[in-house]
Amino acid sequence: MVNYQEIDKKYYMQTIVRDPVTIVKGKGARVWDDTGKKYLDFVGGLAVNCLGHCHPAVVKAVKNQVGTLMQTSLWYYSPPFLQLAELLVTNSPFQRVFICNSGLEANEGAVKLARRYGALKLGGAYEVITAFNSFHGRSLAMTAATGQKHIQDPFRPLPVGFVNVEFNNIEAIKKATTDKTCAVMLEVVQAEGGVNIPADDYLKKVRDWCDAKGILLIFDEVQTGIGRIGKLFGYQLWGVEPDVITLAKGLGGGMPIAAFMAKEKCAVLTLGEHNATFGGNPVTSAAAYSTVKYLIENDVPGNAMKIGKYLMEKLGELKQKYSFITDVRGRGLLIAVEFNKDISKQVVLVCIENSLLVNRLKPNAIRLIPPLIIGNQEVDEAIGILDRVFSEISK
Ligand SMILES: Cc1ncc(COP(=O)(O)O)c(C=O)c1O
Repeated sequence: MVNYQEIDKKYYMQTIVRDPVTIVKGKGARVWDDTGKKYLDFVGGLAVNCLGHCHPAVVKAVKNQVGTLMQTSLWYYSPPFLQLAELLVTNSPFQRVFICNSGLEANEGAVKLARRYGALKLGGAYEVITAFNSFHGRSLAMTAATGQKHIQDPFRPLPVGFVNVEFNNIEAIKKATTDKTCAVMLEVVQAEGGVNIPADDYLKKVRDWCDAKGILLIFDEVQTGIGRIGKLFGYQLWGVEPDVITLAKGLGGGMPIAAFMAKEKCAVLTLGEHNATFGGNPVTSAAAYSTVKYLIENDVPGNAMKIGKYLMEKLGELKQKYSFITDVRGRGLLIAVEFNKDISKQVVLVCIENSLLVNRLKPNAIRLIPPLIIGNQEVDEAIGILDRVFSEISK
């Protein structure tokens, strides 16, 4: 049998400590490794496979499109990306969309838009305020936007134009706002930074402040969007609309695609100011169209909300049972379990032995981001495994 873990060690840039599983197949909420062992997947391609692995609606759309037209570029019209654009706009309060390929690329586009807005309407303002413990992607600009020192330090000097402030603190945003500020960019729930939930009134206060100052509010919903936290767009949980939103991860149901959307008043990017070779790719656009359509028609976000509550309840029972669990927090199916010591690696490895995939979020926390189509049965199964794993670890 080919040892892919050896090949990785020998040839691949060693930037990620991979978990020791070679995944070769997936269906629904299950994946199989190269020995044929089956796992319940509560990582879901890192919050990507919102309809589960190889959902029939997505597979059908991709198969149809891949044999018809694979790539054209945005220099031409083609049905899939325009159908997707219409679907996204008509199901949101935004009037304009640009389709690209990854979360960081969507955020870069949103920041470019904000800078043009600043140039045209705010006397040349160009700074974007972001939060500590945020995560916005791995390009140099998004590294500057990402308020995490350990991610930024290896790449200094960083591009200018980003100011990082404390999350959940409106006064910090107010203090950082100057005549150079063109936008505030936030995740509605900080996902990679620890599943940090905002105070109930924080996003509304930020909205009010942005309105008072005439600056843009960008929500990075790369992870929270497309149903993940119980609504099609996460901000709906707080009733606070941004001017610009970015989406990726779940958008393509497993295919790489992203988008940024804006209200008409700030959709100021004009001819020649933005493009992407693979933007609006027919195959990924067809996948995204079928994903979003299925998600809306079947109220998948509603399922994420309902099952998320059930999962949180069951995790709460485990917290009562195991004193080393210090916190269970999340919204919808974006959930973190925190421990009083750095045992997340051990938890992940023992879960793997027990046929469950969970994500190492921090040394002392794991994250559960399963497909949004799971039911109580998968939750019960995962909870049974976690109970066994925690029991083994506490010995
Ligand atoms: C909120 C958020 N923004 C941006 C990104 C970056 O997305 P990508 O890895 O597709 O560039 C991520 C990835 O985890 C994310 O969670």
